[in-house]
Amino acid sequence: MKKSAGYQPISVFEDRLDEFFQVVQWAFVGEWLLEDRQDYVDALPVERARGVEVVDPARGDVGEIAAVHASFGTEMTTPGGRRVPTAGLSWLAVHPAHRRRGLMTAMMHDHFQRCRERGEAVSALYAMEAAIYSRFGYGMGSQTVKAEVPRGAAMWTVDGADQLTVRLERASFEAHDELVSHLQARLTRPGTIINPVGSGRNARFTDPVGNRKGMEKWRLAIVEDRGEPVAYAFFRRRAQSSVGIHDGVCQVREFGALTPAASQRLWQTLTDFDLVETTYTENLATDDPLLHQLKDARGARSKVVDNLWVRLLDVPVALQSREYFHDCDVTIGLTDKHVPDNAGAWRIVVRNGDATVTRAEDAAPDLTMDIRHLSTAYLGGTSIESLAAAGLVREHTAGQARELAVAMMSPVAPLANWDF
Ligand SMILES: CC(C)(COP(=O)(O)OP(=O)(O)OC[C@H]1O[C@@H](n2cnc3c(N)ncnc32)[C@H](O)[C@@H]1OP(=O)(O)O)[C@@H](O)C(=O)NCCC(=O)NCCS
Repeated sequence: MKKSAGYQPISVFEDRLDEFFQVVQWAFVGEWLLEDRQDYVDALPVERARGVEVVDPARGDVGEIAAVHASFGTEMTTPGGRRVPTAGLSWLAVHPAHRRRGLMTAMMHDHFQRCRERGEAVSALYAMEAAIYSRFGYGMGSQTVKAEVPRGAAMWTVDGADQLTVRLERASFEAHDELVSHLQARLTRPGTIINPVGSGRNARFTDPVGNRKGMEKWRLAIVEDRGEPVAYAFFRRRAQSSVGIHDGVCQVREFGALTPAASQRLWQTLTDFDLVETTYTENLATDDPLLHQLKDARGARSKVVDNLWVRLLDVPVALQSREYFHDCDVTIGLTDKHVPDNAGAWRIVVRNGDATVTRAEDAAPDLTMDIRHLSTAYLGGTSIESLAAAGLVREHTAGQARELAVAMMSPVAPLANWDF
């Protein structure tokens, strides 16, 4: 890790987790409840917790922790339902007293180096502020629709939805981890984060009281087809009323459905609770079946925002870990300030869905771009041609931006349905 003067990188072990959590609370502006500590421990991939501590001879070997980060070792689904080894970067926080001294920059280099040593070809994250990560080579790999669906919203009928049954239960790691993992592993949407490992329990089941805002504990809706689970959703409700009218809300977090009928049955259930007027979610893909099934999609007041930020760490491995939808033979010239091994010319030859990516130092590139633009296009949600139209990708051989765009665009929009 590139060192910042007066600081040194460290691994954070169990005995210093409270210091780690203190930095996170300072940076993310919040005071956690004591009773929630175990939830946060459960959610943290402790063996991949890193920090930066102050070098302070007065304190001996152990200085104050000034900044922290951690990452989940996981796999991410890529276009065509394939997978790439991925690090889910999270918990990145710099104590406000140590900001703007290069600690985040040092931690990003630390993260990149360790990921590459572990063979993780991609790093992905959710950004608190969208302006932070482009400088480190991340691109907006997917977008999400935030929507508020009114109770009982009318939908186009999908055959078979009525025959499916629904179970509603309190979400629990012990009771549901296997079921959710089984369903999630069968989702093929690019950007799907497959069960993050590295924490003691699967992080998606943590439920700190301080985050509930008066809502219930997480519940699970499970749709079944003759006893076989075909869809799931984490949800929770809050009762409220004004001037005697009950207008409670329901929040839907991670969900997934294997069939059109399962999707419809799931959303019919989630939008039809007594005393609940609005069901909202931040996790719809821009082409989610719900948006097509609703008769009045505009009625689900919606907003599109960035979802997953993606960063290719090993260009050939990452590009060869996805499917392509048209043959092409394109040479790209890449710049990458933070991972120099990615920089230079690469020839991408696609035949029958598979890419072969090789060094092409002698060839003049057809296209030139920064790693963040290739990363933006990686999951197939943004076309290389649209990035060229924006002046971000430069085309030197006429027609090659379209060649690569058509090969890389995904037939379904990417989305990470699990927010880390
Ligand atoms: C955002 C944060 C991690 C930055 O840490 P830092 O140590 O101050 O960052 P650095 O000093 O390494 O700055 C790196 C670069 O990012 C820029 N930057 C830092 N914070 C930024 C922000 N919020 N928005 C835009 N740019 C930002 C810096 O100006 C600097 O730019 P430069 O390379 O052109 O000089 C830190 O302020 C923080 O913890 N914020 C609150 C928690 C948070 O948002 N975490 C990110 C979670 S996704």
